[in-house]
Amino acid sequence: MSAAALIALDRILVILVAVSWGFAGGHLLLSHAAVREGRGAARRAAWWSAALVALALLATAGRLATTVALAGHGWWFAAEKALLALPLLLPPALAAAALSLPRLLRGHFGPLTLIFPITSAYAAAAGVVVALGMGYPLSPYLSVVLAPAVLGGALATWSMLTRTGPPGRAWRVAGAVVALSALAWSGLSMWNARLPSSLRLASAGSVDVTALRGPADATRVRRFTLTARPAVIRLASGRGVEALTFDGRSPGPALRVRQGETVEVRLRSLLADRGVTLHWHGYHVPNGEDGVPGLTQNAVREGGEFVYRFRADQPGSYWYHTHETPNRALQAGLFGIFTVDPVTPEGFDEPVALHTFGGALTVALADAPPADGLATRTLSPGTPVRLRVANTDNAPHTLGVSGVPYRIAAVDGLPVTGRTLRDERAQLAAGGRYDLVFTMPSRPVLMSAGAAGLLLTPGVGAAPAPSTGPLIDITRYGSGGTEAPRRFDRSYTWVLDRLIALRGGVPRLSHTVNGQVWPRVAPALVKQGEWIRFTVVNRGGEPHPMHPHGHHVLVLSRDGVKAAPIWMDSFDVGPGEVWEVALRAGNPGVWLAHCHELTHAAEGMTLHLAYDGVRSPFALDGHNHPE
Ligand code: C2O
Ligand code: CU
Repeated sequence: MSAAALIALDRILVILVAVSWGFAGGHLLLSHAAVREGRGAARRAAWWSAALVALALLATAGRLATTVALAGHGWWFAAEKALLALPLLLPPALAAAALSLPRLLRGHFGPLTLIFPITSAYAAAAGVVVALGMGYPLSPYLSVVLAPAVLGGALATWSMLTRTGPPGRAWRVAGAVVALSALAWSGLSMWNARLPSSLRLASAGSVDVTALRGPADATRVRRFTLTARPAVIRLASGRGVEALTFDGRSPGPALRVRQGETVEVRLRSLLADRGVTLHWHGYHVPNGEDGVPGLTQNAVREGGEFVYRFRADQPGSYWYHTHETPNRALQAGLFGIFTVDPVTPEGFDEPVALHTFGGALTVALADAPPADGLATRTLSPGTPVRLRVANTDNAPHTLGVSGVPYRIAAVDGLPVTGRTLRDERAQLAAGGRYDLVFTMPSRPVLMSAGAAGLLLTPGVGAAPAPSTGPLIDITRYGSGGTEAPRRFDRSYTWVLDRLIALRGGVPRLSHTVNGQVWPRVAPALVKQGEWIRFTVVNRGGEPHPMHPHGHHVLVLSRDGVKAAPIWMDSFDVGPGEVWEVALRAGNPGVWLAHCHELTHAAEGMTLHLAYDGVRSPFALDGHNHPE
C-alpha cells in the first residue's frame, strides 16, 4: 500500500481504536454495575462485552499493522506511533486479550476483568491526542504528560472498582493530578509559544541584508514603475472581478527584458488596508531585492515606494508577486509575469498565466484580459511556439496539449532536455512554470488546464478535445544538465504535517514543519559554497509545493526513485511522498522557504534559510507579514 493510503487508513484506525475501546470499557462498567445489583443476565452482558473487546483488539491489531507498514516507508511516518501511542496501548490491550477476554467468555465480571479494557480506552484516547498534536520528531512535552495521565487514570479506576459505594478519595486525587498536569502542560506550552510583539529572525552577523542589493551603477537599465491599487478587472467574458492590481491590471504588466540588462522596478502603493512588496519568484536576485517583509525590507505602505534593482543574468520564465499577506493579496491579483530572453524571441513566444479569479480558472496572455473559458489566437502553420505557462494559483494544475507533439523545454525557468510528448499530460505545481514548445501544425492545437485553455488555430479546422492522456513524472522527464553532487556539507529534514499547534498562543489546526509553525520552525543554517541536502517528507493528505527563495534545488529523488536530475524552484511533494533535493549555497542572505499553497504557508508551513554571517535589521511586527 502507498504511504498516502496508509496515512489515511491510520487516521481512520486512530478513531476506530478509540471509539471501540471506549464502547468496550463503557459497556463493561454498565454491565458490571447491573450484574452487581442483580439486574440483567450476566452471561448475555458478558458476551456483548467480549464482542466489543474483540472488536477493539482487532482495530488495535490493524493500527499495529499500519504502523509497521508506515515504518517501512520511512521512520518519519511511524515514529510517534511506534514510540508513544502503541507502547501506551499495547500492554493493557494484550492484558485485555489474555485476562479479560477469557473471563468474560466464562461470564465473569469483576475488577480484574474490567481494568484492562478501561485502561486501553484511556490509552486509545491518548493515541488520539498524539495523532492530533504530535508529528515528527517526538515532542517530549506531550510524552511526559500522556504516560502519567494513562497510568493515573488506570490507578483511579482500579481504586473505584475495588471499593463498594461511591468513588473514593484516590479517584479524586488521581483525577486532580491528571487535570493539573494537563493544565500545567498547556500553560507552559502556550507561554513557550507566545511571540514578542516584534521578532528579529537574524540579528547576529557581520553582513546586513540591506548591503546585499543590486548594482547601483549600470549601463543597460530597463526601468518600470508598478503601482499597487485596488481595481475592478474585466475577464474576457466581460465579467467584472474586484481585485488588487498592479497598474489596474491583473496579471500586472508583463515585464520582459533581455539577458544582461539591469532591471529597475519602482514599486508604489495606493493600498489603504495593507502593505505590498515585490518578490521575484524563482529569480536569484541579491537578498536585499527579494521582497520579503520583515526579512529583507519593510512592507511598502500607502504613499510609500521601494526600488528593486538587479541584473537579469538568468534567462527564462519567472513571475513576480507581493509577499505581504500573500495568501490573500496574491490570490486577489497582486502578481505578474517576468520573462528574461537570451536572444530575440522568435515565432509565438508568450507567457501564459493560470490564475483563479472569482472562482473561475483563467488563462491570461501578456497584457490581455484573463480568459474565463478559451483564449484564442490565430497562427500560421510552421510558426515556432513557446508557451511559458505559469501556475500562479495555490493548487496544482494539469497541463495537456492536444493536436501536436510537444516538449517541455524548461522547468521553473531553467532548460531541460527531454523527450517528445504525444498526448501525455504534466502536473504543474503551484508557483511553477513549464515552457511548452512545438511547431504550429496546419490544424488547431489546444493547450488545456482543467476547463480553461488556449486554442491556437491556423484559421481552419475544428478544435481538438482537451488531452486526457497519462501523467508524466516531471522528476524523470529530462535532465537539467547538472550531475548530482557526490557529497554534501550538510543535511536537513523537513517533515511536513497537519497538526494542532500553537499559533499566536492559541491551539489551532496548522500546517507544520518538524512539528512547529512559523516563525518557530528552526531555520536551515548554510554557508556560502556548500552543497546542502534536504529530505522533504509529506505526512499529510495534501500536496505541498515547496519553494525556497533565491535558489533552485536539484531534485535527486522522489520516493526513492532517482530523478533525471532536474532543477526546480517549486516542487510538489505529494501526500506520503519523500523528496530528496540538493541546494547549492551561492546566494548569501536570509531567505524564506515555504509551501506555495499559500493558505498552508499562512497556517505555519514557512521557514527560512539563514546564511552564516548575514543579519537582518527588519522585524516581523504589526506591518510585516511575509507568510
Ligand atoms: Cu512565490 Cu515566497 O513565493
Ligand atoms: Cu502545503
